[in-house]
Amino acid sequence: MAHVTMGRLDDKIAVITGAAGSTARRFVAEGARVVLADLDQQRLQQLAGELGGPARSSRSRPIRVNMLHPGPVDNAFQHRIETTATGRDEASANAIFDGMIPLGRHARADEVAAAALYLASDESAFLTGATVPLDGGMSI
Ligand SMILES: NC(=O)c1ccc[n+]([C@@H]2O[C@H](COP(=O)([O-])OP(=O)(O)OC[C@H]3O[C@@H](n4cnc5c(N)ncnc54)[C@H](O)[C@@H]3O)[C@@H](O)[C@H]2O)c1
Repeated sequence: MAHVTMGRLDDKIAVITGAAGSTARRFVAEGARVVLADLDQQRLQQLAGELGGPARSSRSRPIRVNMLHPGPVDNAFQHRIETTATGRDEASANAIFDGMIPLGRHARADEVAAAALYLASDESAFLTGATVPLDGGMSI
């Protein structure tokens, strides 16, 4: 008998902007159909080729809207901000910012993807209109 694994986002559709990062891969791995937008067409095309699959029909469904507010993430975007803001090299700037985060470190991109996955999945089925800080405690 074939083994069928249910994804956490089976039968869901997600529109992802700035999509050339981790979240789209994670969402597709969990069964979502995705609409991707990004200014970086080369990375976008590469990702679309990697994720490509057969089209499926959709049906009407309730729409939930929640906002994810990440704190500093350990990526090139944030490293540029930190070196500019502090005038230090990347390692020193990183340490200064780590010192401002109660959990003592930056978020990983996959942790942002995991939180987005939770908000998109039925695990948060009754959550809508929420703002979710994902900032290691900076907003406490
Ligand atoms: N990195 C962090 O620490 C952090 C923290 C909080 C919020 N944010 C916000 O999250 C967003 C994404 O940041 P990131 O760290 O993932 O950066 P990133 O540079 O890793 O990814 C941004 C992606 O968006 C694309 N993009 C830029 N402008 C676009 C546009 N107008 N339309 C479509 N695609 C566009 C880029 O080509 C890139 O692929 C930014 O708005 C940033 O301010 C980032």
